[in-house]
Amino acid sequence: MTDYLSLARQLAPDIIAWRRDFHQHPELGFEEFRTAGIVAEHLQALGVETRTGVGQTGVVGVIEGASPGPTVLLRFDMDALPVPEETDLPFASQHPGVMHACGHDGHTAIGMAVARLLAQTREQWPGRVKLMFQPAEEGLGGAKAMVRDGLLKHPRPDAAFALHLWNQLPLGQLVVQEGPLMSAADHFEISIKGKGGHGAAPEDTIDAVLVGAEVVNALQSIVSRNVPPQDTAVLSVGSFRAGGAFNVIAERANMAGTIRTFDPEVRALILQRMQKVLTGITAAHGAQAIFDLKENEYTPAVINDASMAEIARTAAQKMLPPEQITEIRPLMVSEDMSEVFNRVPGCYVLLGAEPEGGARGPHHNPRFDINEDALPLAAAIMASIAVHFNRRQ
Ligand code: NI
Repeated sequence: MTDYLSLARQLAPDIIAWRRDFHQHPELGFEEFRTAGIVAEHLQALGVETRTGVGQTGVVGVIEGASPGPTVLLRFDMDALPVPEETDLPFASQHPGVMHACGHDGHTAIGMAVARLLAQTREQWPGRVKLMFQPAEEGLGGAKAMVRDGLLKHPRPDAAFALHLWNQLPLGQLVVQEGPLMSAADHFEISIKGKGGHGAAPEDTIDAVLVGAEVVNALQSIVSRNVPPQDTAVLSVGSFRAGGAFNVIAERANMAGTIRTFDPEVRALILQRMQKVLTGITAAHGAQAIFDLKENEYTPAVINDASMAEIARTAAQKMLPPEQITEIRPLMVSEDMSEVFNRVPGCYVLLGAEPEGGARGPHHNPRFDINEDALPLAAAIMASIAVHFNRRQ
């Protein structure tokens, strides 16, 4: 077995330099023009067949091994967040209001390192490795856009893997587990129409604030009273807007929120109960309501395939001591790699990247940072997983 960890460690100065350059020049979802350009140039210089513009700013590279065999897909996301950076890093963001606050700068650098590791060892493994450099992971549907643009064709991957650096986990700890890892996410909006009027004459009005408040309360009964306690779900109303004056009864109330689930049946139950609650409460008051589920923003849950998790674990065991390979409680955040996993069996792993002295901010925080020592390890893990999958088929 090729010693990818030693090879990756030799590459560490390059990986860190790439990461810092991306960190300094963060780009929002579907605007990763500079980042994608650097990635494409790097792949082409390695002699890797490269396609650009896949899902707008995505890049796909295919590395051919020594002999025919399966195709494995590895995914690296490239987008930054609309977060103003508040670190004192010498390579802090030069784009005001935009920051790599989730570590995707690291992921892009890891992907470039994996490309180099696999290209330089291509005589030693069979099949193909498809590298997916994804735009717009942060809620904008980059994975879906790439799938729509033919990501999973010519060649069709037999398996897919992704890794996220996690700064809340100790450096070098790898989370590999089968089954649920990250929840599905829905975005809904509700608008209630009552009848506005004078604050002193409620009898002539239908108070949208009152109806809206009842709706918010009743929605909270769905997870607590309708979802079986053994199942996991979240329903949060994050925004409520109504009225504009102290002495006017509001005509409208608008709210927005999110639903997190793992099981499509639980999701269906919640959606059905939301409709009922809304219809019932508004009818009781003579108000009207529109329930707008943003179906096109739906992100499915990340569910790891058991045999793919086993492959990732076996590959990782060659470079990490057993106590560093762990499992966690599933996270209620979402990740659109599930768009790929719904079509190709796969496994998503988390690699601990806690900075020395502890994280100063969690993911998506203005003080977020990662431990760069995790970068070569991540590259070695991803390269090993790909080669291990292709060899055992
Ligand atoms: Ni992320």
